[in-house]
Amino acid sequence: MRLDKFVCKSTELIKRDVIQYIHLGAVRVNHSVITNEATQVHENNTIMLNGVRLQPRAFRYILMHKAAGTICSNKDEAYPSLFNDLNVGRVSELHIAGRLDADTTGLVLITDDGRWSFNITQPAQKCEKVYRVQLARKLSADVPTTFARGILLQGEATLTLPAQVTVIHAKEVLLTITEGRFHQVKRMFAAVGNRVVSLHREQIGDVSLDVDIGQWRYLTRAEVDSFGHAFEPS
Ligand code: URA
Repeated sequence: MRLDKFVCKSTELIKRDVIQYIHLGAVRVNHSVITNEATQVHENNTIMLNGVRLQPRAFRYILMHKAAGTICSNKDEAYPSLFNDLNVGRVSELHIAGRLDADTTGLVLITDDGRWSFNITQPAQKCEKVYRVQLARKLSADVPTTFARGILLQGEATLTLPAQVTVIHAKEVLLTITEGRFHQVKRMFAAVGNRVVSLHREQIGDVSLDVDIGQWRYLTRAEVDSFGHAFEPS
């Protein structure tokens, strides 16, 4: 991570003041003065500000139940941001590991640990996301096989990765996918002549939604670790 970002994360200083300290030679990395704020540093480096060793703050890992009519953005736009319901500090440092559409409800994972969210969002990591889907029309019998093989979405060059359909009722299914293309679930059902009426994410990896709409909680250590390597402050 950049030196200025590390110092911001380890102190209460704002970025402008951090850069000024760095330019003044107040910051040492492994005992050498560094005056370039863009220098890449590692959490295991010894980083000191005015002779005091900085310790990175622990990363945050949050589960939230997104309400319909909120957006997965750090600021309000056409709809209010779901972060309005998240009463924690330094919200601007947080991001969502796998955004949902404004009208989609359900499980979102929120963090300030970019390496951890990579484990959730990158298709190569094969992290399963389970959606409960209400459909406008009865599911055609061939759709589970079609989705298991992969389907070409409009305007795309590659098939979707194998997806699993569990039929609940004729117009209600659970769909498990391991990627997060733009409006993926809605576009998959559109591609087989159906339409998503409502969409709710129930599960990501081993983590299931267990709080009420608009509520949130921190993930347990075991839940954090279930997605693979997470950053351990030294
Ligand atoms: N797929 C969609 O189409 N929308 C979502 O919000 C999530 C997955």
